[in-house]
Amino acid sequence: MPNTRLWRPVILLLIASTAIPATAIPNPNDNGLAQTPPMGWNSWNRFGCDVSESLIKSVADAMVTSGLKDASYQYVVIDDCWQVKRDAAGNIVADPERFPSGIKSLADYVHSKGLKFGIYSDAGTKTCAGRPGSRGHEYQDALQYAAWGVDYLKYDWCNTGTEDAPAAYKTMSDALKSSGRPIVFSLCEWGDHKPWLWGKDVGNLWRTTGDIADCWDCKKEYSSSWPAILDLQVGLESYAGPGHWNDPDMLEVGNGGMTTNEYRSHFSFWCLLAAPLIAGNDIRNMAPEIKEILTNKEVIAVDQDPIGMEGRRVSKNGDLEVWAKQMEDGGRAVILFNRGKSDAEISAAWENLGYPAHVPANVRDLWAKKDLGKFTGKFTANVVAHGVVMLRVTP
Ligand code: GLA
Repeated sequence: MPNTRLWRPVILLLIASTAIPATAIPNPNDNGLAQTPPMGWNSWNRFGCDVSESLIKSVADAMVTSGLKDASYQYVVIDDCWQVKRDAAGNIVADPERFPSGIKSLADYVHSKGLKFGIYSDAGTKTCAGRPGSRGHEYQDALQYAAWGVDYLKYDWCNTGTEDAPAAYKTMSDALKSSGRPIVFSLCEWGDHKPWLWGKDVGNLWRTTGDIADCWDCKKEYSSSWPAILDLQVGLESYAGPGHWNDPDMLEVGNGGMTTNEYRSHFSFWCLLAAPLIAGNDIRNMAPEIKEILTNKEVIAVDQDPIGMEGRRVSKNGDLEVWAKQMEDGGRAVILFNRGKSDAEISAAWENLGYPAHVPANVRDLWAKKDLGKFTGKFTANVVAHGVVMLRVTP
């Protein structure tokens, strides 16, 4: 007879180890960053290649003075065109005319404002705007970024010469991890290689689509409107979570191509999707209504909810849709969305939110910033054309 008393601790340990739920097992590839969707600003949507040290400094100033920093925006990211060549040793060189003080000094400036600093490169030999990419220089670039004080890297997918996106992104992911500095890794692969299937082990966020355009209804070769991008998010919800997010592209709020109402709808959805909130407008000159959209703390709290559940479409009746996101407190963030050309009534039925119909729930309007009272079974509101009513429903 074996001595069972001696074996007891081993048996208990074995039982305990099989009882650990999958979610509690740490992902060895996780860099521990972006536990909520990253928030910040990026130069591309508004400024394209017209980037410079003075622009980035004034944007960092505006992050603080406009209240964006207080609303949790953190990363100031220079997109394409900051780089001009490689030197004889292969080091990446910033444009000396546009960045005369160098990238390290710019990162120091951004850090001095209590913000974080981000930069852009590409998995190919050239970036999408034809500047030098990182292919073959991944470890060298990662070390350079770490030495400069970079906190965030957006990594594009032009001129790669390979179809093996997971391998190309893993090379830079490994390089960043061995650089000695925590750097959020943003995969900008546009969704062609289904990065939601492999991105979690490689980076913190991955683009799910081509580029966003600043319009309600347009389709160009490489870009489309946010409502078209929204439709492409259906079915991807379960891939997002703390540390790894679906990225439907940066915000266009405030860039001039849509109405305030359409921008409010755009921002509401990015928050319901737990999307990265990367402002893309000129935050140094914002109309009050644009600032109000970007800094609505109750709407941002939906995006930043710690359990990191992405919202999903729960009903669709022609142009009238209801979307819902489960929140940490068991409540739901809900969007009633009217894609149509005239105002319409939309109802959110409790069964579609995952609640029994008889349960009373408090309803709060997040744009009106008003408690609307207790409702049972459903909530109905009039929603303007192209608009949303955004709610917290809490049983
Ligand atoms: C691609 C990306 C954009 C931007 C440009 C820069 O189109 O998807 O977000 O970074 O490249 O050239």
